[in-house]
Amino acid sequence: MKKIVILTGAGISAESGLKTFRDSDGLWEGYDINEVATPDGWRRNPDLVQQFYNLRRKAVLDAQPNAAHRALAKLDQYFETVIVTQNIDNLHEQAGSKNIVHLHGIITKSQSSLDPNLVYDIKGYEIKMGEKCEKGSQLRPHVVWFGEPVPMIEVAMLHCTEADIFMIIGTSLAVYPAAGLIDFAPMDIPKFLVDPNAPSVSSVRNLITVREKASIGVPLLVDELIQQKA
Ligand code: APR
Repeated sequence: MKKIVILTGAGISAESGLKTFRDSDGLWEGYDINEVATPDGWRRNPDLVQQFYNLRRKAVLDAQPNAAHRALAKLDQYFETVIVTQNIDNLHEQAGSKNIVHLHGIITKSQSSLDPNLVYDIKGYEIKMGEKCEKGSQLRPHVVWFGEPVPMIEVAMLHCTEADIFMIIGTSLAVYPAAGLIDFAPMDIPKFLVDPNAPSVSSVRNLITVREKASIGVPLLVDELIQQKA
């Protein structure tokens, strides 16, 4: 069975009503990254960080997967499919995709602020201010902040080296190491990029760019790949 590896970013969830980061009116326009998405920001003002992620978690839990998430979930029936997402939402899970690698964590879980291996499901929208885990350390969102290691990157790199088809959907490719994953995909395999304002990836061979919104471009591309397989 051929293996498809798909790198997704905030753009795939834009039409589900979730803000991207760097588009105009993006999430980072309203907040200082250093205050809400770094370990220093957490040390300085954990309540502000909690409040930022509690708001984002409410938006995520109120959102629905769109046609792009649902189309990707269909691929599981025809290909060995691995979704490597930079997103901390759970819309790929909600759409039914099975094999998902969250490079930047997932907002529906919390972790001990002292031991990142202690991870917990969050019931509802909120981590309460000052809420502690069973070991007595403060709970923080289970997300990777700027300047922190990306534990799943080696797993993601390995998947990319094994890809027969590589897809990039809805990411500005502005943040490493995620943006460097395309370099781990074999040179000669077909690659597709779906993004209405696609970033330039001129150094990549065999790349077809679909300048469309994800909810339009991804279902068309998925149907085409399934058709070719049939
Ligand atoms: N369909 C497809 N792509 C879209 C759509 C859409 N409807 N709307 C916007 N896009 C594209 C934009 O053109 C842009 O290229 O999605 C991309 C969004 O880029 P960013 O906002 O930079 O989001 P992302 O690439 O996921 O950011 C990567 O940066 O801030 C960190 O941790 C955060 O995971 C995030 C990482």
